[in-house]
Amino acid sequence: MSVKFAVIPAAGLGTRFLPATKAIPKELIPLVDKPLIQYVVEEAVAAGIETIVLVTHASKSALENHFDSQYELEAELEARGKQALLEVARSTLPAGVKIVSVRQGKALGLGHAVACAAPIVQDNPFVVLLPDVICYAQGDNATAQLVKDYEMYGQSVISLLPVPMTEVHKYGIAGVTEQQAITTLVEKPAAEVAPSNLSVLGRYLFNASIFAELAKTQRGVGGEIQLTDAMHAILAKETMRGVAFDGEVHDCGDKLGYLNATLTFAARHASLGADFKTLLAQHAQA
Ligand code: G1P
Repeated sequence: MSVKFAVIPAAGLGTRFLPATKAIPKELIPLVDKPLIQYVVEEAVAAGIETIVLVTHASKSALENHFDSQYELEAELEARGKQALLEVARSTLPAGVKIVSVRQGKALGLGHAVACAAPIVQDNPFVVLLPDVICYAQGDNATAQLVKDYEMYGQSVISLLPVPMTEVHKYGIAGVTEQQAITTLVEKPAAEVAPSNLSVLGRYLFNASIFAELAKTQRGVGGEIQLTDAMHAILAKETMRGVAFDGEVHDCGDKLGYLNATLTFAARHASLGADFKTLLAQHAQA
């Protein structure tokens, strides 16, 4: 079965980025010249996804607006003959791709957010992309790497990234065999009890069976329904694979991680990169 659905949990209130996120959804903060969520949507679409379910919140309708057409803006750009800008305004959502939004009425955590997408995704395999995490790869992107693995093995599969042991308490951590089968998953363990230093980086591909497991999952760490706990429970019934992500990962939910991503993406930018690097060099000397 090919993978055509993606779920993007985007209901969080972005408290780590206040005051910037008081009136603006954190997913609309720009990384150089595009909002964070635009990178994630483009990653999903490049991996073959056709329907994207945004799990959002009453205060974040700007997210839906970003992917909608904006009649007044488009008419104005057309009247002024600004074709290139018109294309930019129209291409927030590539042709042939649908965005569906559902509300997460209660702040019950990531597992609960993913479960909110069940009525749309139904029995289909789907990917989950956390929009705080921006990935960059030279070849296949992070989601495409998972889709390829799924096409080969037909099993749920998640991307993993080694982190220092001093950081394991911030992530879901996996135990994995040499054959890449996951043996255990623990959400935000203390270093002493962590099964490894392999973190769940925020890209997942699930068979629809995860929904039944999520429906049974009790509140875990932080009083929230944890996706990691549902994944751990399903290991008793199904094989889930863990593959190392081949590329760069930026935690843009963290201020320093976001600043590092800004420097990295600006330096690589097709039209701004060269001038930006000159600017950086000037700052380094100052
Ligand atoms: C979430 C997940 C965690 C994962 C992390 C990746 O945690 O619960 O398993 O490792 O994203 O960024 P959060 O960052 O929302 O606390």
